[in-house]
Amino acid sequence: MRMSGFDTPEQLPEKVELLRQAVEAKITQLTEANRAHRRKIFDLYTIFEISRHLNGMLETESLLDSILLTAIGQMGTGGAAIAIQQSPEEGKLVFVKAKGISNNRWEGVSCEAGGPLCQFLLRRNQAILLKELGERIGSQTGEVEKLAAIEAELVIPLSVKNRLEGILILTGKISGLPYSENDIEFLSILANQLAVTMENARLYEMEKNTNVRLRDTQNQLIRLEKLAALGELSATIAHEVNNPLGIIKNYLALIAPQLTPEDPNYPFYQVIKEEVDRIAKIVRQLLDFYRPKAEEIAPVDLSQILDETVVLFEKQLSSSNIEVIKNLPRSLPKIEASPAQLKQVFLNLLMNAREVMPEGGKLEVITRSENGYVEAEVADTGEGIAPENLEKIFEPFFTTKREKGGTGLGLSVCLGIISKSGGIIRAQNRTPKGAAFLVRLPVKEKI
Ligand SMILES: Nc1ncnc2c1ncn2[C@@H]1O[C@H](COP(=O)(O)OP(=O)(O)OP(=O)(O)O)[C@@H](O)[C@H]1O
Ligand SMILES: [Mg+2]
Repeated sequence: MRMSGFDTPEQLPEKVELLRQAVEAKITQLTEANRAHRRKIFDLYTIFEISRHLNGMLETESLLDSILLTAIGQMGTGGAAIAIQQSPEEGKLVFVKAKGISNNRWEGVSCEAGGPLCQFLLRRNQAILLKELGERIGSQTGEVEKLAAIEAELVIPLSVKNRLEGILILTGKISGLPYSENDIEFLSILANQLAVTMENARLYEMEKNTNVRLRDTQNQLIRLEKLAALGELSATIAHEVNNPLGIIKNYLALIAPQLTPEDPNYPFYQVIKEEVDRIAKIVRQLLDFYRPKAEEIAPVDLSQILDETVVLFEKQLSSSNIEVIKNLPRSLPKIEASPAQLKQVFLNLLMNAREVMPEGGKLEVITRSENGYVEAEVADTGEGIAPENLEKIFEPFFTTKREKGGTGLGLSVCLGIISKSGGIIRAQNRTPKGAAFLVRLPVKEKI
């Protein structure tokens, strides 16, 4: 039997050998392909596992640490560093963390987000050797040189939705081997996942900040609501108290001429008088604040109002050994407000400041304008406000001066007036000591 028309029995072994070789080559090729596929599956599985682990990390600091450690561990490199967009306004990617690279090499190094390096990395969206990067974008901006100074060998853009979230750089491998195609492919896929986790962390942080602001606003609203509800009630009570109080005062005035300081009842009379005066003061404050008054709203110069109030109070301040430092520019835009009420606000702040500096100190009064707002600051060098009280001091009747006759109404009156004018009032402690009260009022646009 013949195998083919042309083969002779002598040629057969040679033919078989050729076939065997061809089959062997095919088997080797398939084995290689199989190995490559297996490696790819393994790599993808690794990436999947890494992403799964990192996706749960919402805190940027620990996420960046994990990214660096993962990159170093997976690639067997000596070091890695990461740059991120620190704040979008600045338009810069700043190196913020590194492992295995000495601090003086990477700290403070940054790249312009709009510069050729970042733009190139964003377009490419794939890991690239520094050498190739240098050839592609040249050294006009010196940014490639900056990366070379960090000892970068491989540069990996971390981008998501056409935004460069960060740049990861790796130094050479510990083994001394160059980065392979496989490494670059692996890192490029990993980078996409890392960028997504970084974006998640950034969005989470943004949301956290928004929540804090929202909570602050809610707190102010709750305080104002409390103030309004309490205010109505207090005003009613104050009215009711005012009449009998008037009668008591009249009778006291009648008794007064009959009592001499030697009289055994004189001390009782004095206590009654002091206490009645205290009640009268509280009632007056409540009524002044809550009684709807026709308010003269006028364009006012905040600096002038504050200055006039300080002048009014100067005697009391200097007698307490308090040095007043004024910075009240007269060029601020005018605001629409009630001058009398603003003076009441500043007077309350000045009185509080004086009360916390019985041994003397410094009082700073400052005004300034910011876009759309004017601000006044009254700052002292007193004992400051206990952190647990910072939230409470604007509440009606909150006082730490109960024994000294404080009513705890001063600051709630300030809050009410400033809120009615569309502004805000805030308190904070100063370093090394003292408290500062900031009043911010909106400037109405001229139509
Ligand atoms: N400059 C300040 N430094 C430190 N604590 C302050 C300062 N101003 C206010 N406080 C705190 O806030 C509390 C509330 O102040 P607020 O002016 O409302 O009431 P008061 O001063 O206690 O009483 P009143 O003003 O009715 O006499 C004070 O008791 C004090 O604990
Ligand atoms: Mg007060």
